[in-house]
Amino acid sequence: MVSTLEDRPPLWWQRGAVYQIYPRSFMDSNADGVGDLKGIAAKLDYLAWLGVDAIWLSPIFPSPMADFGYDVSNYTGIEPVFGTLADFDDLLEETHRRGLKLLLDLVPNHTSDEHEWFRQSRLSRDNPRRDWYIWRDPTPGGGPPNNWESNFGGPAWEWDAPTGQYYLHLFHTKQPDLNWRNPQVRQAIYGAMRFWLDRGVDGFRIDVLNMLIKDEQLRDNPFNADWQPGDPPWMRQHKLYSDDQPEMQEIVQEMRQLVEQYGAGQRVLIGEIYLPLPRLMRYYGQELNGVHLPFNFQLIELEHWSARSLREIIKAYEAVLPPGAWPNWVLGNHDKSRIVSRIGSAQARVAQMLLLTLRGTPTLYYGDELGMHDVPIPPELAHDPQEMGSPGFGRDPERTPMQWDASPNAGFCPPAVTPWLPLAEDHEEINIAREESDPFSMLTLVRSLLELRRSSLALEIGRYQAVENDGLSQDCLVYLRVAGVERYLVALNFSAEEQILALSEPGPAQVIISTLLDRTGTAELSALKLRPAEGCLIKLS
Ligand code: NOJ
Repeated sequence: MVSTLEDRPPLWWQRGAVYQIYPRSFMDSNADGVGDLKGIAAKLDYLAWLGVDAIWLSPIFPSPMADFGYDVSNYTGIEPVFGTLADFDDLLEETHRRGLKLLLDLVPNHTSDEHEWFRQSRLSRDNPRRDWYIWRDPTPGGGPPNNWESNFGGPAWEWDAPTGQYYLHLFHTKQPDLNWRNPQVRQAIYGAMRFWLDRGVDGFRIDVLNMLIKDEQLRDNPFNADWQPGDPPWMRQHKLYSDDQPEMQEIVQEMRQLVEQYGAGQRVLIGEIYLPLPRLMRYYGQELNGVHLPFNFQLIELEHWSARSLREIIKAYEAVLPPGAWPNWVLGNHDKSRIVSRIGSAQARVAQMLLLTLRGTPTLYYGDELGMHDVPIPPELAHDPQEMGSPGFGRDPERTPMQWDASPNAGFCPPAVTPWLPLAEDHEEINIAREESDPFSMLTLVRSLLELRRSSLALEIGRYQAVENDGLSQDCLVYLRVAGVERYLVALNFSAEEQILALSEPGPAQVIISTLLDRTGTAELSALKLRPAEGCLIKLS
């Protein structure tokens, strides 16, 4: 029988909150307009103060930056723009000294075309590294071997004239896909994982984990009949043969076995996987021997942010989780529009309360704790390859520099330097220096919620229980978090109108925090008043 969490002490990645740092944009220590490792190290005290438990760094390995680090040219080094291996070791030590964990971003699906493996692979058809990538002849009539399309738009095959074959790239032409059917490739990536685990990293976020292995026959993908011009390019096809193949499960288990050698449950694997729930669940592994946390992106993907749809997705997710599997929730990342830009500042506060009171490990995206929003990037300043391949789908707007203070470059880099992406115009108002001393700021809210979460077993690991009755407005979401006798009620108003909820929970109730940060004290649950876009965390009993 699988033991439940309440039977055994929770592990750090179950209790804790993960904070994603996009290293180019966090803190520039050497005045070149790009963030770096020393910059991150200089801001660890902020992260400890904020109250997150682990930081995940988007890729910091040597890279020609065709996809800003997701095109790795050496898995066991540090990109000079970010610093040196010695800087990394210092950062890791300082992170651990503050009781925080550090996760790296593993990019195993593809390398850069400038990686030594690919340089060799493309030299000749009989090079020993040829089979490390996916090379194919043209079809008899000429043209690419199948109809697969790149996620950045256009065909997924690039012609290589010197050797007369195509190579596969599910992303940029400069990101050739590795051939995971080749055991040497697996060992090479596992070697890289060991390199960082031996240095002491606490786990990995694994890029596009579901895509590593492709259909053996490379069959054509069916087209998505619902796709319309203007829809995202990566939705034009159903990725029947280029994604989520049955052989993936074996690879996931191999990765898990590898990290378990560093202590059961001590190092964590988080899979970046955009798949419908039942298929996502498989990545926990049949015996929970897959990744610890297959990222749950439902909050990011939700088209209509409303109490009704949130209620449905939470219910669906809780219902399909395999016994003993630990949930997780993500509100933002470097690939998607920021939460404030998706739903507005007022509702973003409610969203933070949701994220930090749901059952499961929360992942926060840097700057969301301040209320940073997407920054429109004029075409001449755009960098993202996705914008180049599919204009309008660029991800630069959500990757702009962190807003530390009200100075001209927001404290990210010196005033005389041009940051790699422009700053938000309102950074004089939305920044840490101002918000940390404002009792009503978004930052104060997020920090307080993290603190409350840490101080309560019910909020950290307790059961989730939906509250549904006739006295509830359709615009509100209400749930309980329960561990032993400790019980919290969360009531969230997703509308722009006041709502009065008739709750039948017995016993005394105390408002611990409101998203508006101006309310504590006794709550009248039979007529609980929530102001527009207000959420309340209420202690019962
Ligand atoms: C997912 C990453 O999050 C994204 O930024 C990147 O472009 C692709 N994978 C390709 O590595």
